[in-house]
Amino acid sequence: MPDIKEIVREKYGQAALRVTTGGSSCCGAAAALDGCCDPITSNLYDAGQTGSLPEAAVLASLGCGNPTALAELKPGETVLDLGSGGGIDVLLSAKRVGPGGKAYGLEMTDEMLALARANQRQAGVENVEFLKGEIENIPLPDNSVDVIISNCVVNLSADKDRVLREAFRVLKPGGRFAVSDVVTRGEMLPEIRSSILMWVGCVAGALEQNQYKDKLAAAGFAQIDIEPTRIYRTEDARAFLTGEGIDVDAIAPQVDGKFMSAFIRAVKPIACCGPGCCS
Ligand SMILES: C[S@@+](CC[C@H](N)C(=O)[O-])C[C@H]1O[C@@H](n2cnc3c(N)ncnc32)[C@H](O)[C@@H]1O
Repeated sequence: MPDIKEIVREKYGQAALRVTTGGSSCCGAAAALDGCCDPITSNLYDAGQTGSLPEAAVLASLGCGNPTALAELKPGETVLDLGSGGGIDVLLSAKRVGPGGKAYGLEMTDEMLALARANQRQAGVENVEFLKGEIENIPLPDNSVDVIISNCVVNLSADKDRVLREAFRVLKPGGRFAVSDVVTRGEMLPEIRSSILMWVGCVAGALEQNQYKDKLAAAGFAQIDIEPTRIYRTEDARAFLTGEGIDVDAIAPQVDGKFMSAFIRAVKPIACCGPGCCS
């Protein structure tokens, strides 16, 4: 059984090094085929947002949404980005919460962490801290964060229940979970799910949307909502799947409209002490 976490770490380490050596971060099948960029990770931010960021932070963007645009961050808040990569969403969050707030990035891959810290130095922002660690074991105290953001990372974890329990633990009562992720609609073919590279590329590890809601509820969250931001068609997935050696035309009906990028919202209830105690 391959170690998913090690494969993910290696892939994103290589992606960080590609940016550091002047290339693009793109990884996965689309990059292998045509250089850059797949329909999931491209054109997520507008120029007004990226204009003031270090170029390497923008080049390292590997998310599937724009959680900072949807999360309604307020001045003075503490934000935590799960799987912060090159730091784009942390740097954007830091601006939104202002000098009285704080933006943490949590990242397990050393090369990404080094890139994010270099980007922070270049951006000259002080209300940012990049932490080394895993999203299954968040190195922050209970009830210490106002908003958890994440951009296409929860789907990479082999233990999503644990990630969601940890997110719930570190959020303050009333704290918000505001995450971009790839989710599927209905069942997906086993051969798609089983491809490790697809997993790394954000798809095969994605949860079915109702499963995602159930897991959030089981972790203790309320006010759960999943809003599609991009629904992918067969053509969007062609390069991605062809790179995996999959005959796209043969499986088109099972792929078309079955996976999407979505914005996932949930709230940690105010009068709740843990999963199950509110019911
Ligand atoms: C899809 S990229 C997204 C990076 C960033 N959020 C962005 O939007 O550009 C996934 C990032 O999450 C990190 N990552 C994946 N699994 C992780 C885990 N279990 N714990 C911590 N970081 C993880 C990877 O190293 C990688 O940098």
